[in-house]
Amino acid sequence: MLAVLVLAAIAAIAAPPRLAMLGDVVFPRHTGPGELPPAVFPHWVHRMQFKCYACHDALFQMKAGANPVTMDAIQAGKFCGICHNGKTAFAVGFTTCNRCHR
Ligand code: HEC
Ligand code: HEC
Ligand code: HEC
Repeated sequence: MLAVLVLAAIAAIAAPPRLAMLGDVVFPRHTGPGELPPAVFPHWVHRMQFKCYACHDALFQMKAGANPVTMDAIQAGKFCGICHNGKTAFAVGFTTCNRCHR
């Protein structure tokens, strides 16, 4: 009994922190059959290069699904398009659709 409690305590301490903010955010709106796969935002890749406040909350509210991101907005240089313009990061174009939609 004691051993079980000790093991449970160790497991609780050793459990990794909640990884939600480290992981990928999948944009769910765009998932219809026959369409492109949904867009994925890999948080970790971005966090290696930017502080949180580069994006939060000026560009994106810190909540999955809370931001009205559309392709039109991106191509107008908003949201992802602020950086994904061929200068700061790869541009949106027909050779790069599947880097985000995967
Ligand atoms: C390059 C931009 C960018 C950077 C830098 C960034 N984030 Fe985010 N973050 C996003 C985007 C995009 C989303 C998803 C928003 C959506 O789904 O509408 C998001 C979502 C989140 C969420 C909500 C996750 C959920 O499941 O609801 C949290 C929490 C978060 N970010 C925390 C952080 C923290 C903490 C940092 C810094 C350590 C950080 N972010 C850095 C762009 C960024
Ligand atoms: C930089 C990342 C990125 C690239 C590159 C990209 N998309 Fe998107 N796309 C998104 C995000 C984010 C959304 C919002 C999805 C959501 O909310 O579910 C989106 C949404 C869409 C939608 C849903 C309708 C709309 O207009 O919002 C379509 C269709 C789409 N993309 C097609 C494309 C095509 C075709 C390409 C290549 C020419 C492309 N995307 C390239 C990130 C990207
Ligand atoms: C603050 C600038 C910034 C914003 C905003 C931003 N990105 Fe990025 N993103 C980058 C940079 C820089 C890279 C790495 C350089 C490159 O791949 O061109 C990158 C890389 C990526 C990659 C490739 C990751 C890999 O595995 O190689 C994807 C996918 C991506 N971004 C999607 C998105 C989506 C979707 C959004 C909007 C929800 C977004 N990004 C918003 C700067 C940004």
